[in-house]
Amino acid sequence: MINLPFTVIVESENETEKIAKSFAENLIPGDLILLNGELGSGKTFFVKSVCNNFGIKNVASPSFTIVNEYSGDKKVYHFDFYRIKKVNELYDFGFEDYLNDINTIKFIEWANLWKEVIPKHFYEVNIDFVNENERKITISKQ
Ligand SMILES: Nc1ncnc2c1ncn2[C@@H]1O[C@H](COP(=O)(O)OP(=O)(O)O)[C@@H](O)[C@H]1O
Ligand SMILES: [Mg+2]
Repeated sequence: MINLPFTVIVESENETEKIAKSFAENLIPGDLILLNGELGSGKTFFVKSVCNNFGIKNVASPSFTIVNEYSGDKKVYHFDFYRIKKVNELYDFGFEDYLNDINTIKFIEWANLWKEVIPKHFYEVNIDFVNENERKITISKQ
């Protein structure tokens, strides 16, 4: 469990995995987690690391599929807004229905690209590059 807001500089993937493990303990079904940070900063890596703690091993980037669904100890929807060009593309595949599923934890990479579709309450994970293996991770709750 992590007390929020929280900021840390991690120096390796292994340290990111440890933060993700603690953060996984904060999460309950229905929670929404936004992930922001530039390409390659580690958004997908972070989702993968959190999901490992739910017994989910098949996490992959949804940048082409827009949404991936996983199921382990918990159910997870994993979105990526990077390739969304019009907000209708989100409504067309039923984004709202996914969002309203109270039994499922939802992660959204690049959530800041479509702020208008984001509900009021969420966790936000910001990942900044420091150098090749170091990242600054900030987690807050709204
Ligand atoms: N400390 C770290 N935390 C997370 N990822 C790291 C770290 N150091 C190196 N990496 C690497 O950075 C890359 C992040 O890629 P990815 O998670 O796909 O980024 P994004 O989804 O933000 O575009 C991965 O190849 C990962 O192995
Ligand atoms: Mg990604």
